Amino acid sequence: MSDDLVTLEDVEAARDRIADVVHRTPLDTSTTFAELSGAAAVGLKLENVQRTGSFKIRGAYNKMAQLSGEERERGVISSSAGNHAQGVALAGDLLGIDATIVVPEVTPAAKVEATRGYGAEVIVEGDIYERSYEYALERAEETGETFVHPFDDEAIVAGQGTIGLELLEQFSDLDTVLVSIGGGGLISGIGTVLKAHEPGIRVVGVQPEGALHAKPSLERDELHVLEDVDTVAEGIADARLLETTFRHVRERVDEVVGVSDREIATAVALLAERAKTVAEGAGAAPVAALLSDDLNVEGERVGAVISGGNVNLSEHAELTRTGLFELGRYVDARLALEGWPATLEAVVETVEEKGAELDRLERARRGPNDHPNRIPVTVGLEGSGPEHLRDVLEALSERDGIEVVERGLDP
Ligand SMILES: Cc1ncc(COP(=O)(O)O)c(C=O)c1O
Repeated sequence: MSDDLVTLEDVEAARDRIADVVHRTPLDTSTTFAELSGAAAVGLKLENVQRTGSFKIRGAYNKMAQLSGEERERGVISSSAGNHAQGVALAGDLLGIDATIVVPEVTPAAKVEATRGYGAEVIVEGDIYERSYEYALERAEETGETFVHPFDDEAIVAGQGTIGLELLEQFSDLDTVLVSIGGGGLISGIGTVLKAHEPGIRVVGVQPEGALHAKPSLERDELHVLEDVDTVAEGIADARLLETTFRHVRERVDEVVGVSDREIATAVALLAERAKTVAEGAGAAPVAALLSDDLNVEGERVGAVISGGNVNLSEHAELTRTGLFELGRYVDARLALEGWPATLEAVVETVEEKGAELDRLERARRGPNDHPNRIPVTVGLEGSGPEHLRDVLEALSERDGIEVVERGLDP
């Protein structure tokens, strides 16, 4: 490993180390996303179907496989509430190394269980992530366990870079590659490979607007640290790059694009619908950038790394619904019904006749503006677009006994 930056050879060595345990994930070409973005072709690198549901096993295994016999004996420790925890846990299991993961108190039980399921010991310590991180570092000092950093480590960067080697083999003549950035380990590795093979490939980082630190860091060539982060994409809700990743990003990333949470939700919905792919927010962010007006990919061959799919189903449903709202394909409306329950049947019938989907129908709490002799209900309707939904609402309001009191969206 060079003193300075991770090299292509480091990544190739990582590939040999992890080859037997990590999936070579598929690359899915998508005409839909090419059409929607104006690109000549789009290739989705599906790390959401990687073992543990994200790319993190690549770096964790590469790091842990290089520990000495003595270090392995002492075990490893890390702090993470997310995908890195599962990567370290599985790598520990495969290599026979005891792994301990420190998670903050707010971590959902399901994530704690998933990490335990891979054989790691989980310690719940700290009200926020930083406390868990400090605790893990202190404990590593005391016990001699090796701390496995989620991104700021050359071996982790080299491991994540193996995605770049596969991408080059699977999708030729790349013009632009889109990669989400949290702490920057993933893009540092992929950027290393792409720039070594073909310096002309444009490496674009993607961050949520609510955690947009790498963009100012790159543009001002000065590490930018955010005070707060706020995004649905919790996998990339970081406040800063660190020393190792900043060194790589400034050399190997061309630009960073910010995307809104709404754009991320739309990307989650479109990936599910068009590519039959379950992505978490962090995994869908590159598709959000692809479809954003802030990035021009006209006529290009574009690779997008779908980095993870660890999202629980109810959260996925929420994101999808928000995405449908954004696409003008979902509307919430409040109706006042006269002659309940016969009018209820008329609602169901009308929506069906119009070829729309009645996603939700609930009796609403009566408010001061509601007519005392009408039953207020709220409905959620899915349709093919704003015009279709407008037409459905129009048809509802024309039925006897149904008044559309409020429309949640444009339609
Ligand atoms: C799904 C997913 N995508 C992207 C990232 C970003 O990786 P990095 O922190 O190396 O930039 C993470 C990090 O946890 C992640 O979990």
